[in-house]
Amino acid sequence: MNVYDSESIARVLYPMGFEQTSCLEAADIVIVNTCAIRGKAEQKAFSFLGRLADLKRKNPGLIIGVGGCVAQQEGRRILGRMPHLDFVFGTRAIFRLPEIVNRIVKDGERIVDIDMMDNVPEFQFSEAFKDTDVSEISKFVTIMRGCDNYCAYCVVPYVRGSEISRQPKSIIEEIEELVDAGVKEVTLLGQNVNSYGLKEGLCSFSELLAQANDIRGLKRIRFTTSHPKDLSEELIYAVRNLDKLCKHIHLPVQSGSNRILKLMNRKYTREQYLEKTDKLRAACPEIAITSDIIVGFPGERQQDFEDTLDLLKSIRYDSLYAFKYSDRPNATAASLPEKISESEKQSRLEQVLRLQKDITIEKNLVLIDSVQVVLVDGFSKKSRDSEIRQWSGRTATNKIVNFTCNNHNPDPGDGLIGELIQVRIDEVLPNSLCGRMTQTSITAS
Ligand code: 5AD
Ligand code: SF4
Repeated sequence: MNVYDSESIARVLYPMGFEQTSCLEAADIVIVNTCAIRGKAEQKAFSFLGRLADLKRKNPGLIIGVGGCVAQQEGRRILGRMPHLDFVFGTRAIFRLPEIVNRIVKDGERIVDIDMMDNVPEFQFSEAFKDTDVSEISKFVTIMRGCDNYCAYCVVPYVRGSEISRQPKSIIEEIEELVDAGVKEVTLLGQNVNSYGLKEGLCSFSELLAQANDIRGLKRIRFTTSHPKDLSEELIYAVRNLDKLCKHIHLPVQSGSNRILKLMNRKYTREQYLEKTDKLRAACPEIAITSDIIVGFPGERQQDFEDTLDLLKSIRYDSLYAFKYSDRPNATAASLPEKISESEKQSRLEQVLRLQKDITIEKNLVLIDSVQVVLVDGFSKKSRDSEIRQWSGRTATNKIVNFTCNNHNPDPGDGLIGELIQVRIDEVLPNSLCGRMTQTSITAS
């Protein structure tokens, strides 16, 4: 979501004459987009901001701004703490950036805009796209903002505000613009895509997916994130039936213990979660399921943690993100008793990662000798320092595949990028698969 927001920031500033640069020293304006999901992300943001003081000393005319969730959370306090910063703007102020920057340029004032007004205007991307080079194969598209779920550990509802869905027409137009510019895959983003449009009475998320599926030239659709409590039968059938929709669902479980799920305010039980994953696999046996886990939530006892390990063994996710619990401002879990020590959290995290690594490798080994459809997105890292040309892409199940061309095909060079091709898998590494291309260009409407 932050990637999408950073691109929106660049797009709103583009008509004012600003262009992106990869050289910090060459910039007239530096905008730092921050994440507040865990304490560590926030510390990183502050240490980066601190280092910009030197840059400002060398170039006093430089304008420095802070946006994103830390900006929303800390507001004016950031300006007090860091005199070299010029402005702070919240998660719903991106569209007001031209005004903010103009005021700074004209009057030199320091500005804080963390107004969380609900009526975020629909952004017209068309103008901005005209002159921008969208060279990537895969792009994010935000379909909704904010969240109403208030999971006990989570800062998102406080820093991104209440849930609002974008109009389907505007989303579809944005995807069409991207496809016209050469994009082949989009990932639709929301904190909980399953509740898309419900509040506003728009079309359902599955209907939105069906509309996107009809866009000519678009090859693949992904989405994230699904809250398990709202995973509908309709969405399960959409995953099964829509040909461009990737057979992958990120369905964060957070914990395998009913006691902890209740404390987390997740509104489902372990049994209900298992029932949903069973249904997903019954409807679509090849589906990849991935998840997020938090270890060391306040009050997580050894038995609760073992329940999580046990759940991981029975579900056998394709891959997993695991995090040590971290207290967040306003989130209700911050005031819960029975905090878990840092060393215990570290030990639990390592156990989860070790278990999942074995499961991921076992699941990937089954793919040896199979033929996978891959969307090529570039060259592998290895290609840069080796003689052998190796391309890279992802399967519909979101696994990274690095591959070479077999002897029967001439080297297709850059021409392969953006194509759906077939690859025979012959090696499994911890984080990727390796193989050889067997057939080029699988056509998609
Ligand atoms: N501490 C640790 N992990 C967290 N997450 C969200 N809030 C916290 C927190 N306070 C994790 C959840 C979520 C993912 C994006 O980040 O697992 O799904
Ligand atoms: Fe945070 Fe829960 Fe909303 Fe996800 S659903 S953003 S974890 S409050």
